[in-house]
Amino acid sequence: MIRIGLLGCGNVGHVLAKYPADIEIAAVYDIIRERAEEIAAATGAKVCTQFEDFIIGDFDLVVEAASVNAVKEYAEEILTRGKDLVILSVGALSDHAFYTRLEETARAAGKRIYIPSGAIIGLDNLKIGQITDIKRLTLRTTKNPASLGITADRKRLVFRGTAHDCIREFPKNINVAVALELAAGREADVELWVDPSVDRNIHEIFAEGAFGDIHIMVRNTPSPENPATSYLAALSIITLLRNLERPISVGT
Ligand SMILES: NC(=O)c1ccc[n+]([C@@H]2O[C@H](COP(=O)([O-])OP(=O)(O)OC[C@H]3O[C@@H](n4cnc5c(N)ncnc54)[C@H](O)[C@@H]3O)[C@@H](O)[C@H]2O)c1
Repeated sequence: MIRIGLLGCGNVGHVLAKYPADIEIAAVYDIIRERAEEIAAATGAKVCTQFEDFIIGDFDLVVEAASVNAVKEYAEEILTRGKDLVILSVGALSDHAFYTRLEETARAAGKRIYIPSGAIIGLDNLKIGQITDIKRLTLRTTKNPASLGITADRKRLVFRGTAHDCIREFPKNINVAVALELAAGREADVELWVDPSVDRNIHEIFAEGAFGDIHIMVRNTPSPENPATSYLAALSIITLLRNLERPISVGT
């Protein structure tokens, strides 16, 4: 079983805490102390009130399930302090200079950064985009307007453009697009729709290239405790961690 330090004790963190047979959470850190304490009460993890106490903990890997800002603030130090890192707030890596710096830091420290599949399925084979041309890569996301904090009485398009531009208008909706781009090694076109008749976060991926074409649709069940977070995202971290220690890797 893998021992981790958990950075961010919100919805995803709470789902991770429900899988004690797969993950041992050694230490927890959250800017909201009560959230860390809830997870500590359920798992026996040590509550750290300062990042400095957290990072010296007895674990080899940090799972970040906090925010883009937390990745920007702590990722480099996590690596230089000798820990591997799982990044869920992958939107942080849309900053190319930061991405490159993080990659160099990880290489120099001999540490690894893992990006889970998060709220989608299909990152595995999209990596063919790094060796062959993918002519079209589109992410179409459809959400209930309430989950974006807007009102709409019918289905409508609220954004179309590059992932880079989407960050400015809808910063919380960028993780999936950035994960797709990193996997495929090219920019993604992003469409964001709101539809009052849907109660799930729907991600459709369209890709086309020499290999043929794909259309994947993922209709995410919201996390039991927070409809804004896809349950699949938390489950994807658990499977990533389980598979780190297995001798046979499937679909990587
Ligand atoms: N890659 C994906 O597909 C995917 C899917 C779902 C969520 N996410 C991302 O994962 C992250 C966690 O999601 P969630 O639903 O659990 O969010 P959440 O808001 O429920 O929980 C985040 C927790 O992190 C804490 N936090 C935020 N910034 C912090 C910092 N700088 N230092 C310490 N603690 C900090 C918050 O206090 C909160 O308790 C979010 O950034 C979210 O956008 C990514």
